[in-house]
Amino acid sequence: MADQKKLFIKTYGCQMNVYDSERMAEALGGAGYIATDTPDDADMILLNTCHIREKAAEKVYSELGRFKGLKAAKPELKIGVAGCVAQAEGAEIMRRQPMVDLVVGPQSYHRLPAMEAKAGNGQKALDTDFPEEDKFAHLAARPKAQRGPSAFLTVQEGCDKFCAFCVVPYTRGAEVSRPVDRVLDEARDLVERGVREITLLGQNVNAYHGAGAGGDWSLARLIRELARIDGLARIRFTTSHPNDMDDDLIAAHGDCDKLMPYLHLPVQSGSDRILKRMNRSHTAEQYLRLIERIRAARPDILLSGDFIVGFPEETEADFAATLALVEQVRYGQCYSFKYSTRPGTPAAERAQVDEDVKADRLQRLQALLSRQQAEIQDAMVGREVGVLFEKPGREAGQLVGKSDHLHAVHAQAGAERIGQVARVRITGSGANSLAGQVVEV
Ligand code: SAH
Ligand code: SF4
Ligand code: F3S
Repeated sequence: MADQKKLFIKTYGCQMNVYDSERMAEALGGAGYIATDTPDDADMILLNTCHIREKAAEKVYSELGRFKGLKAAKPELKIGVAGCVAQAEGAEIMRRQPMVDLVVGPQSYHRLPAMEAKAGNGQKALDTDFPEEDKFAHLAARPKAQRGPSAFLTVQEGCDKFCAFCVVPYTRGAEVSRPVDRVLDEARDLVERGVREITLLGQNVNAYHGAGAGGDWSLARLIRELARIDGLARIRFTTSHPNDMDDDLIAAHGDCDKLMPYLHLPVQSGSDRILKRMNRSHTAEQYLRLIERIRAARPDILLSGDFIVGFPEETEADFAATLALVEQVRYGQCYSFKYSTRPGTPAAERAQVDEDVKADRLQRLQALLSRQQAEIQDAMVGREVGVLFEKPGREAGQLVGKSDHLHAVHAQAGAERIGQVARVRITGSGANSLAGQVVEV
């Protein structure tokens, strides 16, 4: 094709941004762009940004600074900012970095090709609306190219929960679920193109209530329907809110074979006082009872979570309650963060905890979480697990894949096994991955 332009996208933040970046690349593919993995020869650079913590947001400006030389050498280079910083800061980004040509919020990606055509040569394009129309319905159909064995599929966006620390309800807008048929069509299309594992995504994915036959469907019903697709071997979903784990979804973990035994269920704190101040709308005890019910349905489920330490007014006793909750749950994997003040959120106005206290608590929590992660990984040694091989490993003749429990596993195997779920006996446990041997059957 004549005159193909090159697009470099850099993605920050959550998996929803990874999915959005794919969709943006596809949308701009229609406008003549092909992907490149370096900014140096790009005709357009797009930063898909995250606003969740202060550091994440500041990274955008330092990254933009690094493109100054490229823009000076090639004035027709278009630079765009997408994602949650684009939504939160809008035109302010162009004021701070005048070389930015285009700013697009997460709900307007279907308008990107038109914005791209307008931007450049001193013309700016800005769109941070929450449009009436559904961006997914207006995004171009996905191209038919073959793809890797696992894929993300966004089914729900936005959040109505307004946790006191969080920017997501402001950057992503109100909760919206995609209609059932569209999700099923996209899933079938992914499977035709080689996908064996789909991870359903949403800021509150278990609050899914998409329009389908007979009314709104729950996430559990959607999962059961997806499980009927031949060739789809595995289903996962993330991120869930404890208050939206309904009985049917818990039951699905016990009776739906394709639903993998892994659940990311953030709790943020183990202190009821802090949970209340965070506006999480449940207690530590309610969370623990919920975990009991989930484990009753699927005893070997691996749990993961998110924690914030040093939330405003958190005392040593509150923090001790978090450690106690972690001890009780025994997580296989976790993300933990120091509380980061986000302007415009309620918690930003409250008495802040000292930075060194936050750092100390984070270190203590992470030590406990790492210990649990290692214990659970070590306990896998000797067990036989399913592994979906995804790509070649670092050593010759080796493949890397994900176990049912989402552990990275490497094993000696031929490239023909990529895209297959193999039975693997776990033989060793390393820092962040397991070693195994394929069991021939
Ligand atoms: N919807 C998900 C979380 C999305 S944000 C949920 O409710 O669990 C991902 C994680 O970032 C959160 O779980 C939280 O642990 C962390 N986070 C969000 N805002 C933060 C802030 N202001 N400071 C530190 N961590 C934050
Ligand atoms: Fe943020 Fe809370 Fe919504 Fe999760 S549930 S996205 S933490 S406001
Ligand atoms: Fe970040 Fe936005 Fe995701 S703030 S975590 S990119 S929803």
